[in-house]
Amino acid sequence: FGQRVKLLGAVDSTQNAAQRLAEEGAPEGTLVVAEQQLQGRGRMGRPWISPKGKGVWMSFILRPSIPLPFTPQLTLLAAVALCRSLRRLTGLDIGIKWPNDLLIDGKKISGILLESSAEEERLKYVVAGIGISLNLDASDYPPDMLAKAVSLKLAAGRPFDRSETIAEFLNEFEELYLLYGEEGFGPIRTLWEALSVSLDKPCVLTTPQGSVIEGSPVGLADTGELLVKREDGKVVHVFSAEMGLPEG
Ligand code: BTN
Repeated sequence: FGQRVKLLGAVDSTQNAAQRLAEEGAPEGTLVVAEQQLQGRGRMGRPWISPKGKGVWMSFILRPSIPLPFTPQLTLLAAVALCRSLRRLTGLDIGIKWPNDLLIDGKKISGILLESSAEEERLKYVVAGIGISLNLDASDYPPDMLAKAVSLKLAAGRPFDRSETIAEFLNEFEELYLLYGEEGFGPIRTLWEALSVSLDKPCVLTTPQGSVIEGSPVGLADTGELLVKREDGKVVHVFSAEMGLPEG
């Protein structure tokens, strides 16, 4: 990973740039890093603020030979790799909120967006996008966002080096991706569950279709969905949703 790197100044979104390279046949591990994104995008169609030089805005290509329904596993793998590398780099207590938000004291510090391309039910490639709010100052955030988000610099009281952060992450990701290739999702699931801040706590999940599920997450299913125990004791599988955690 990162042996082929495309460094860009301003770009609409590194996701688009990496997607174009993937369509042209670029190999697995090809990485696009930008100084600034003008139309950075988050999950659920939300914008992702990506000010110039203040964070890690990057996307890389994966070409795993896994069945299409297993793709959510890669999101969880990326979250584990990011969490472990940022904990090591910063010494901060960082946890994962399902599926892949990294939090410090309940505030979001990074985002992961996996977009896949499939043909006839077969996975062609995945573009993994990683945004790390590294050195953003309070003035870089819209005022109402600081209640929910923080940068590593604001949390640790010192700035971090972008290249070192990228290298730490890619090393960790590569190691876990190899492990995943050899042993499957089992070891990743164990690591994810140990870093999760959302297991066994009551929560409210809102799916993209708008239905609401209340219960306590109890773990991950084989394909990577969240297993949620409802108040009536029934365990349901949740593929995609927005998770609200109780205060505190
Ligand atoms: C989220 O938490 O909603 C996911 C945010 C993902 C942001 C990254 S930054 C690099 C890549 N390019 C994008 O446009 N988005 C991802």
